[in-house]
Amino acid sequence: MTMKPRGKIRSVIAGVGVAGWIVSTACPRPEPPPPVTDPVAEGERIFFNEMFNGNGRTCGTCHRTEDNFGLTPAFIATLPPDDPLFVAETNPNLAQNFENPRLMREFGLILENQDGFDDLANNFNMRGVPHTLAQGTSIASAAGPRTGWSGDGAPGDGSLRAFSTGAVIQHFPLTTNRVAGVDFRLPTDEELDALEAFMLSLGRQEDLDLPLPLKGVVAARGQEIFLDNTLGKCNACHFNAGANGDPNIFGDAGNLNFDTGVEDLPDQPADLTGELVPPDDGFGIPGDGTFNTPPLVEAADTGPFFHNNSVETIEGSVAFYNGDAFNNSPAGQLLVGATGSGINLDATQVVEVAAFLRVINALENIRETVDLLERSQESGANAGSLLARALEETGDAVFVLAGGGLHPRAVAHLERAKALIERAAAGHDYQNAVEQAMAALDRAREELVEGQ
Ligand code: HEC
Ligand code: HEC
Repeated sequence: MTMKPRGKIRSVIAGVGVAGWIVSTACPRPEPPPPVTDPVAEGERIFFNEMFNGNGRTCGTCHRTEDNFGLTPAFIATLPPDDPLFVAETNPNLAQNFENPRLMREFGLILENQDGFDDLANNFNMRGVPHTLAQGTSIASAAGPRTGWSGDGAPGDGSLRAFSTGAVIQHFPLTTNRVAGVDFRLPTDEELDALEAFMLSLGRQEDLDLPLPLKGVVAARGQEIFLDNTLGKCNACHFNAGANGDPNIFGDAGNLNFDTGVEDLPDQPADLTGELVPPDDGFGIPGDGTFNTPPLVEAADTGPFFHNNSVETIEGSVAFYNGDAFNNSPAGQLLVGATGSGINLDATQVVEVAAFLRVINALENIRETVDLLERSQESGANAGSLLARALEETGDAVFVLAGGGLHPRAVAHLERAKALIERAAAGHDYQNAVEQAMAALDRAREELVEGQ
């Protein structure tokens, strides 16, 4: 829980430097090693600034730092009309078959052509923007890397590098002809390496080890239900609340794809508008109806939920597993075959599992905030943006706990931490404010979990 994402990458860079130096000691007067640019910093610059000669968008247009590197309707509502997200509204060349502005603004849905660009008017999917956190824990599978909601959004091998190229072709073009070199330029190998390094540095670097000694009875019961293979059955697919299958059941399969029936939910918000929303066939061309399992530690503060943003609340997304859409789905039937029944939780239990997901999300927010504050202490120039992210993370911890009526005393400590981080960001008594903020975060964590 205390790993610093950048530590790992820094030591890799240091390793490169040392090796170079050892080679050069063979010379009589060793030259100092050439400065190695930090690929994470370079990737961050590209992610937020590089437009690849396209329509003005960057990766950060949809994966916003203020929104956990995802995008919600609430955030979209704060953007000015000329934000590059809205190119379909402002650039006549992109008015048709590029985005659906209504579905984007109301439900945060983005148009994607996972099955190819041959029939733009009819062959597309409307999907939510996933966060890009903890990807080092959630992509690898025995069948190769699984990126995007269905694992097939990338041209080529499905890796993060390939996915980045796919994102440029999908989201950046000047016209829907999508001719490389005319409508956009493709990222270079160096740019793809840097983007990958930056994305892998974001968020959690390792899985939890459940059960945690949670202090709140509601969240603690939620954790038991989550882990119970005869009751919640969640841990079978979301092992340790991450994105991988339980190795006791699936071996080292890693990140697995399932058809959990989300597409069969009745009354999906986007469908209620009457706009054209073709069925999303998931993995492959044509698709097999499966989507890959997302990590849950980061879920509570990154709704709306599922690939099509069809459920707004974390409680609702737990309750999804009680319904016919799930229990009649191939994944639901798999559970029936293996355990004799599907999933059938009562209202108290739904709220308990959601409380568990809220609390582990808040713990992750606290871990990330402390990490960002420590990094802000190390890096003079970058401190402002690190503090801004720390503030977002602390705000999210308040949001997920208060939204479930959980741990009011922890919320009070978190509110105090927020005020102190704001003080530090405004340049008032920076060192002292950061240290006091860390102490307040510690007290908040102690409310949630027995000392670790
Ligand atoms: C117009 C909005 C938009 C832009 C711009 C955009 N993305 Fe995305 N991103 C999405 C959507 C929607 C998905 C889900 C796609 C899918 O399911 O295949 C996604 C998914 C991803 C994922 C998969 C995350 C996961 O958990 O599997 C990665 C990685 C990613 N984007 C990286 C990038 C990079 C790098 C860029 C810039 C080159 C970029 N995106 C630009 C909307 C966007
Ligand atoms: C058979 C495997 C499986 C089981 C069992 C399972 N899940 Fe999932 N879960 C998935 C898959 C696959 C998705 C992605 C579905 C989609 O978007 O279409 C998902 C998505 C989710 C999401 C949405 C995450 C997001 O970021 O949008 C939540 C929340 C969730 N599951 C919670 C649970 C809980 C709680 C349980 C137990 C009650 C559970 N899951 C049981 C496979 C499973």
